[in-house]
Amino acid sequence: MTLRLVILASGRGSNAKAILNAIQHHELDAEVCLLISNKPDAPVLEMAQEYGVKTQVIASKGLSRETHEDFLIKAIQPLNPDYIVLAGYMRLFTAKFVNTFNTNRQYRIINIHPSLLPCFKGAHAYHDAWDACVPESGISIHYVTEAMDEGPILSQNTFPRMPFDTFQSFQERGLALEHQLYPKVLQQLAIEKSSINNNFQQETTACLPV
Ligand code: GRF
Repeated sequence: MTLRLVILASGRGSNAKAILNAIQHHELDAEVCLLISNKPDAPVLEMAQEYGVKTQVIASKGLSRETHEDFLIKAIQPLNPDYIVLAGYMRLFTAKFVNTFNTNRQYRIINIHPSLLPCFKGAHAYHDAWDACVPESGISIHYVTEAMDEGPILSQNTFPRMPFDTFQSFQERGLALEHQLYPKVLQQLAIEKSSINNNFQQETTACLPV
């Protein structure tokens, strides 16, 4: 069953693009109901529009976290998405926001982070991993809680630091992995949604009088 997604992104949007590409190529059974950016000039907005995705700017500048989140909740809640997908969304959420969407004891917000969590949390994970000269780094996809870059891990994958690497080639290797992993994890959730739905239908059918 098609997964209903709302994407939140603040910048370039290469992960959002990977997700939209996977949908377009039928590798991901999902629809993006809305892409929201907190930055009016984020390149991700134009990219999403090229895929025919509805976009909305909900600017965060000058607003308290709570006020900004109230606007987000108003925009997202009526769409009833299965998941809110953070794709380079450079803001932390309050417990109120997270709990608004984590209903029925299910996590509903997903983030991608460019390190092997719990190592290198924060906004500069590629730089921090590079500076630490780790022989191997990685990518984490995790559910979101109010604590930064915490929450249960959905999937992780590693990539090596090669002797000839520059910071740029190291980061590019990681980013390529991000673009593979995010759509795959979301497709796994789409499969799970379908199987929950099928089981429900079978149970319902079994209860119907003949
Ligand atoms: C990615 O490296 C992602 O892991 C991190 O922010 C970056 C966003 O890049 N959270 P993009 O906007 O998806 O290109």
